[in-house]
Amino acid sequence: MERTFVMIKPDGVQRGLVGEILSRFENKGFKLVAGKFGVLAESIVDKHYEEHLAKPFYPGMKAYITSGPVFRFVLEGENVVATVRKMNGATNPTEANPGTIRGDYALSIGKNVIHAADSPESAAREIGIHFTPAELVSYTKID
Ligand code: CMP
Repeated sequence: MERTFVMIKPDGVQRGLVGEILSRFENKGFKLVAGKFGVLAESIVDKHYEEHLAKPFYPGMKAYITSGPVFRFVLEGENVVATVRKMNGATNPTEANPGTIRGDYALSIGKNVIHAADSPESAAREIGIHFTPAELVSYTKID
């Protein structure tokens, strides 16, 4: 079954949106198989955002993403990667449709509440950065 990596960013945590966001994914039917709450180590941030290291916005983004705790989790389910991206809405909240998480809760591209892997390959890479295999729990979900 497909899995994806999701992270509620410091602005989402500080605004008390963790429960609301998690509920959306649980209500959709996705299964929570791992979760971790805390402030990201700089080395993890550099690995996670490897493709953005040279971008002009990177230093500001790194300062922001390490400014407070984030909630990282892994979801499992059919087409979970693409569906979670759709539920999150466009990266730039000004382009995100109402009804999506960023459309409903975010204003700026920097503080855009949530991150999710953009492909199954990215999901596998990001899950491997943030979780050990033993931290991914195996259980049967009663539908
Ligand atoms: P995310 O899905 O976490 O992946 C990369 C992040 O870079 C993205 O969400 C945005 O929050 C951030 N980002 C992309 N473009 C910019 C920008 N121009 N200024 C600030 N942050 C950006």
